[in-house]
Amino acid sequence: MGALSTAATFGTAVPTASALTELTPAQRRYGLLPQPDLAWTPEIERATAHLYDKVRDVIPAVEWPFFAPYVHAINRLKKERNAVILAHNYQTPEIFHCVADVVGDSLQLAKLAADVDADVIVQCGVHFMAETSKLLSPNKTVLIPDSRAGCSLASSITGADVRLLKQRYPGVPVVTYVNSSADVKAETDICCTSSNAVQVVESLGVDRVIFLPDEYLGKYVAAQTSVKLILWKGHCEVHERFTAEELRAYRDADPSIEIIAHPECPPEVLAEADFTGSTAHMIDWVKSRRPAKVLMVTECSMASNVQAEVPDVNFIKPCNLCPHMKRITLPKILSSLVNMSEEVIIDPAIAERARLPIERMINLKA
Ligand code: 13P
Ligand code: SF4
Repeated sequence: MGALSTAATFGTAVPTASALTELTPAQRRYGLLPQPDLAWTPEIERATAHLYDKVRDVIPAVEWPFFAPYVHAINRLKKERNAVILAHNYQTPEIFHCVADVVGDSLQLAKLAADVDADVIVQCGVHFMAETSKLLSPNKTVLIPDSRAGCSLASSITGADVRLLKQRYPGVPVVTYVNSSADVKAETDICCTSSNAVQVVESLGVDRVIFLPDEYLGKYVAAQTSVKLILWKGHCEVHERFTAEELRAYRDADPSIEIIAHPECPPEVLAEADFTGSTAHMIDWVKSRRPAKVLMVTECSMASNVQAEVPDVNFIKPCNLCPHMKRITLPKILSSLVNMSEEVIIDPAIAERARLPIERMINLKA
């Protein structure tokens, strides 16, 4: 009855009794709220002017009236809900620069999720990132604006696959990239991200590990350590599309161009790069080196996010977008906060085991 009267007070469609029984725990706890008014008004223009200043180099003025009412409504509702928005570096600039409280690569987001002081986390990224936040903040409500935001690496392997591998290689520790489901993490000894994979592999002090599920990240790590890696054939559908030939063509067209790449790319692509690193390491590289012209061999929104901060750098964008990351939009973030959906819920028995390898990774000394 509480949720019914809350909904009526705020003027939303009153849910039927059967709809009420389908509410998630978060929706039951918070009640339903109305969609805030989304008109472009002089007040909204004034209230969001400081945010438009951050993105004016990457969002045309003619588009801002469509974004600004959402930005304003999200930022207001965020305070009412005591929520924080965590956004991965691949989110689009209006999310990354205008509504996110915390931005970063997978490692930074995982570390911050553990410490964040809020009741609610809205994860603007893909599902495995939201699961990681939930594992590290089990008492917080973790929302993902579209739970269909998956990842080709995470869906390349299941917990049952890992159990079979462990039977085949008894006693060999399992290192799993965070781009994986909670089910897979539950079978894992320690997680890694693209920022710390070599350090994690070497931290185990063994001569052989099972490294899952990214074959190309595994090959990149194997080239830098004497530890032997048993690999899985998972690939990122965004990074595997880049080719060495395409990069050579860019360099032939302009030999002054700097090429930096994410280690999820195939080895022959990385061989063409001047620098390889996680998304955060790539951003740091551009901000500190300020190359005249750079090609970031990774998801394309990241170049726009960095360009907004370093307008003096010329970004060449071979626009490979991650279709999963792009499922997260301002209207869905607002709807997520209004309706407290979609809530990330992990089976407690899996969560208990999946949390340990992430914590082991986070607790590794730098
Ligand atoms: P980072 O950890 O480098 O941000 O990578 C995450 C990811 O999904 C890259 O495709
Ligand atoms: Fe997964 Fe690739 Fe998308 Fe990253 S860019 S979330 S690895 S599909």
